[in-house]
Amino acid sequence: MTTNITYLIRFTAPLILSLLIAQPALANGDVEAGKELGYTCLGCHGIDGYRNAYPSYRVPKLGGQKAAYLVVALEGYRNGTRNHPTMIAQAQSLTDQQIDDVAAYLASLGGEAVAAGGSDTATAEKSRPDSAQACTACHGPNGVSVNAVWPTIAGQHEDYLVHALEKYRDGTRTDPLMSAQAMLLADEDLEVLAHYFANLDGLETTEDK
Ligand code: HEC
Ligand code: HEC
Repeated sequence: MTTNITYLIRFTAPLILSLLIAQPALANGDVEAGKELGYTCLGCHGIDGYRNAYPSYRVPKLGGQKAAYLVVALEGYRNGTRNHPTMIAQAQSLTDQQIDDVAAYLASLGGEAVAAGGSDTATAEKSRPDSAQACTACHGPNGVSVNAVWPTIAGQHEDYLVHALEKYRDGTRTDPLMSAQAMLLADEDLEVLAHYFANLDGLETTEDK
């Protein structure tokens, strides 16, 4: 009985939510204005495989990430739902308009694989673990998000995905939708899922061209 209820919550709640939540207005940042601000960001986000010192994990890829999600993420560092000290300092130095601009700029770098829709359905299905069914309603069947304020996770660094999921689980990163999802994951699921999504075609390191 409990299993049935858990199953129902896990699989139907996200579907209903994704239908109820309206698509937000598109972020209206200015790519040219964002380019100047983005210079600092590329010092970490623009270097392939660059690592956060402690704990050690690779800094997230932003190329091809949705601009509206980058805005939500930067606001999260500013308002305390995310707790990374360097990123809090970076985000606090930006005005709302600057956040829109830098998000538009970073999202414009790379991301051809995401623009093309990510891995094809057959490839994505072949290696998909059962546990990933709980994720696809929001993050898309191939890890390319279905909503502009939700992150694409396809192609993201595997160790960053593990790190992010652990933070939702221990409560140092909070989100009304994602926290509950992460709480349900055992360590093993978490690793299997991070491995699966990281290996799909998707995000890229943001290298200025
Ligand atoms: C010193 C290295 C460093 C610099 C400089 C830096 N970042 Fe970050 N950034 C990180 C790390 C590490 C994370 C992951 C933090 C965490 O675990 O929450 C991150 C996370 C992010 C995220 C969240 C990504 C996601 O997938 O949720 C965004 C958006 C972001 N940074 C944007 C920026 C912008 C914009 C700038 C420049 C104004 C910038 N960063 C400068 C290291 C850096
Ligand atoms: C109801 C919708 C929903 C479902 C279902 C869902 N997520 Fe999420 N996920 C989100 C949202 C929204 C965010 C961004 C939250 C934030 O701003 O911190 C997110 C963020 C994430 C992140 C962090 C990405 C980043 O760039 O920092 C990872 C990793 C993730 N989800 C993995 C998963 C996995 C694995 C599953 C399945 C077990 C899953 N999600 C199920 C909505 C969902």
